[in-house]
Amino acid sequence: MSIYKTGLDFAKELDQNDELASYRSQFHIPKDTHGNDIIYLCGNSLGLQPKTTKSYINQELEDWAHLGVEGHTEAKNPWLPYHEFLTDSMAKVVGAKPIEVITMNTLTANLHFMMVSFYKPTAQRYKIVIEADAFPSDKYAVESQLRHHGFDDKAGLILWKPRKGEELYHYEDLENILEQHGDEIALIMIGNTNYYTGQFFDMKRITALGHKHGCMVGFDCAHGAGNVQLNLNDSGADFAVWCTYKYLNSGPGSLAGAFVHERHAHDKTLNRFTGWWSHNKQTRFNMRHEFDQLPGAEGWQLSNPPILSLAAIRASLDIFNEVGMEKLQAKSRKLTGYFEFLLKQLGEDTIRIITPENPEERGCQLSIQVKNADKALFDKLTASGVISDWREPDVIRCAPVPLYNSYQDVYNMVERLKKILN
Ligand SMILES: Cc1ncc(COP(=O)(O)O)c(C=O)c1O
Repeated sequence: MSIYKTGLDFAKELDQNDELASYRSQFHIPKDTHGNDIIYLCGNSLGLQPKTTKSYINQELEDWAHLGVEGHTEAKNPWLPYHEFLTDSMAKVVGAKPIEVITMNTLTANLHFMMVSFYKPTAQRYKIVIEADAFPSDKYAVESQLRHHGFDDKAGLILWKPRKGEELYHYEDLENILEQHGDEIALIMIGNTNYYTGQFFDMKRITALGHKHGCMVGFDCAHGAGNVQLNLNDSGADFAVWCTYKYLNSGPGSLAGAFVHERHAHDKTLNRFTGWWSHNKQTRFNMRHEFDQLPGAEGWQLSNPPILSLAAIRASLDIFNEVGMEKLQAKSRKLTGYFEFLLKQLGEDTIRIITPENPEERGCQLSIQVKNADKALFDKLTASGVISDWREPDVIRCAPVPLYNSYQDVYNMVERLKKILN
């Protein structure tokens, strides 16, 4: 027996009883030409703007206007330590300790910087494992790392593939790869929530497996951060990277996150690229000192960071901090479960959800395969006022985000899809 019911009344009832419902009004919801809220189910691509973002950025613009360079120390939120104002909240969002996280650069750049430190190939052990349908940027990044170290990017790349005719990945197949090739593999780098299927992987299990075989293990958490509880510290992963423009609602191209497990925090022997922002804060401005490595993830910074982007991230993290990932995840499961229930009413001969059914193995995204459909269907859905995204050949990805999506959003989306299909 399902806990859900069909009908608009039920959606309204769920919204009325939703303790996070008021957060929707803290976001700018895009409008259609009639001034009605668009049904925005695209937080997996670009999250919506918190209404507070402008004031956080304006504060820094004002201080820059009035203080110039003095803002580094005299701004209301001094720029020199500005990134530190984000550390505790970011650590909470990804389940890490403050020493393990840093907000810097962009996602793919961070992935490279992490691989400089954690991809340490030798002639015998140089291969990298990724999932077969990894996000292209991840694949290009690991291929270029293989080439950079003088290895063939085909021979050096091992793909963890779904079984024939399936989209989801089986851990047993990864275990088999490790059994057969474990001593040739230097690094396992997995998208912790697959961008296409929405499958959320057990990072602790994958990390334990990799470590058992002597491999380093890292994750791209682009689709996980702010969406699922990551528990990065507990996972034991060596490193992780993520972006802040999706579920972390920090604006297009905003700075990214990086995690380095605490066991590496004081290891000065790790190879890495450095800059003046990797140097001890106490003596950074003495300028001519010998390099003195900052401990923890902060030590992977190179440059003084863009404060305006950090300000937008801070605005968003303050909301996450207030709500907490636990409550967000609880609503997310209910909202996505409801969405799944309604989609299933459309009938198995019409649609197939490729995202795992088990709530433990997914976040809020559902990847919907519409049978015998092409992009024309998606275009009609968009024209009806639903923003989602399309992945060739036949998948619509929709992410009802617990912070700003309502149960009625989900209900109305399915109604519009039903109308188009009919
Ligand atoms: C899973 C994943 N990895 C990597 C990227 C690339 O991110 P960036 O352009 O910020 O480097 C994206 C972007 O959407 C992504 O979804």
